[in-house]
Amino acid sequence: MQRVTTSIARALPSSIQTASSKPHRAAAALRVFRQTTPSCARSFATTPATMSATPISANAVLDLLKNRRTYYPLSKDLPITPARIEEIVKEALQHVPSSFNSQSNRVVVLFGAEHEKLWDFTTETLKAIVPAEAWASTGGKMAMFKAAAGTVLFFEDQAVVEGMQAKFALYADRFPVWAGHSDAMLQHTVWTALEAEGLGANLQHYNPLVDAKIVEEWKVPATWKLAAQLVFGGKTGEAGEKAFNPVEEKFKSFGA
Ligand SMILES: Cc1cc2nc3c(=O)[nH]c(=O)nc-3n(C[C@H](O)[C@H](O)[C@H](O)COP(=O)(O)O)c2cc1C
Repeated sequence: MQRVTTSIARALPSSIQTASSKPHRAAAALRVFRQTTPSCARSFATTPATMSATPISANAVLDLLKNRRTYYPLSKDLPITPARIEEIVKEALQHVPSSFNSQSNRVVVLFGAEHEKLWDFTTETLKAIVPAEAWASTGGKMAMFKAAAGTVLFFEDQAVVEGMQAKFALYADRFPVWAGHSDAMLQHTVWTALEAEGLGANLQHYNPLVDAKIVEEWKVPATWKLAAQLVFGGKTGEAGEKAFNPVEEKFKSFGA
């Protein structure tokens, strides 16, 4: 079996493990496995490395991308278990690329009462600085986020970034940017993956207002710099209309 990780090998039926020595047979067996096994019983991203050589259509990826939208408001009714959400986030965290494989991404997932605590902190912080006449709108948004089921907090570990800067001085000014790129890839992956399993989500940015509270409450290392908050929960309606500027304005190709 080529480069099939032990966790994948454990997750797959033995017929598939054997078949994976022949990529096309492995692909067919894995398709059957996927069709006949509920997603909650499978491991996320357990596709063997051998699968990269098989003709899986890019349309499958594009369909997932198109399925990801911004949803608000959200409910506390989750279509999958918290354990499955943890698994999805952990797999994304492990497999999303980073510059020089520096692995600067860090994540905290808050469920239930812990999630509500985050939005209570954010509400308190904003209440102290938002003008009274603007509070109705801000307070309404805070109540909306709190009513969701959970929040994924995305961080970039500055200890890793600084370590890379010290090690590769030539690229010192690039590492914070690349850490941001890797984090953005992770945010998008988690957002897309959660929506693939039927959840709704929206991306928020109340950092750095809430950073100190988060460090204090959840004992997050001080080197973890908060970048974004992905609020998730059950869908309560459809995503809003989305306008697209012409792709011709955004795309060029040469030599095809
Ligand atoms: C980098 C980035 C920052 C965003 N920040 C916020 C935000 O702070 N609050 C918010 O409600 N949505 C935020 N969004 C969501 C965008 O408004 C949304 O993705 C965009 O309008 C396209 O809609 P869609 O997500 O349904 O495709 C952000 C999205 C990105 C990619």
